Amino acid sequence: MSWFKATLWFWVTVATAAVAFSAAQEAKLPDGEGKDLVADRCTICHSLDRIVETRTSKAGWEGIVKQMLAEGVPLESEEIPVVVNYLAKNFGPRN
Ligand code: HEC
Repeated sequence: MSWFKATLWFWVTVATAAVAFSAAQEAKLPDGEGKDLVADRCTICHSLDRIVETRTSKAGWEGIVKQMLAEGVPLESEEIPVVVNYLAKNFGPRN
């Protein structure tokens, strides 16, 4: 295999894996306003597993999102309530 072909093969594999991974990640999120924000911004540092395994109240999510802002999640101030509402609606406490 030429150097060029090997390099191309490598990048195609990496790109395919990245697309497949993000599709698999997004499948864990129910549809709704805020889904895209969570899928984009909340997967920068960890997978969505951390999020979908957490079930808590709206106040609980507010606290977690505040903590993530301190970690450095890129969210505009008007995006914060959209994300909090989405999480509280879909990942509320189990009862
Ligand atoms: C800048 C990096 C970063 C981004 C972006 C980020 N997180 Fe996190 N997140 C962390 C770190 C670091 C931890 C582990 C904190 C710890 O274990 O104390 C964590 C842990 C968590 C946990 C587990 C908390 C717990 O107490 O068990 C949840 C839930 C979570 N993140 C949700 C989110 C959500 C929702 C978003 C998007 C709004 C997000 N994260 C974006 C860095 C980030």
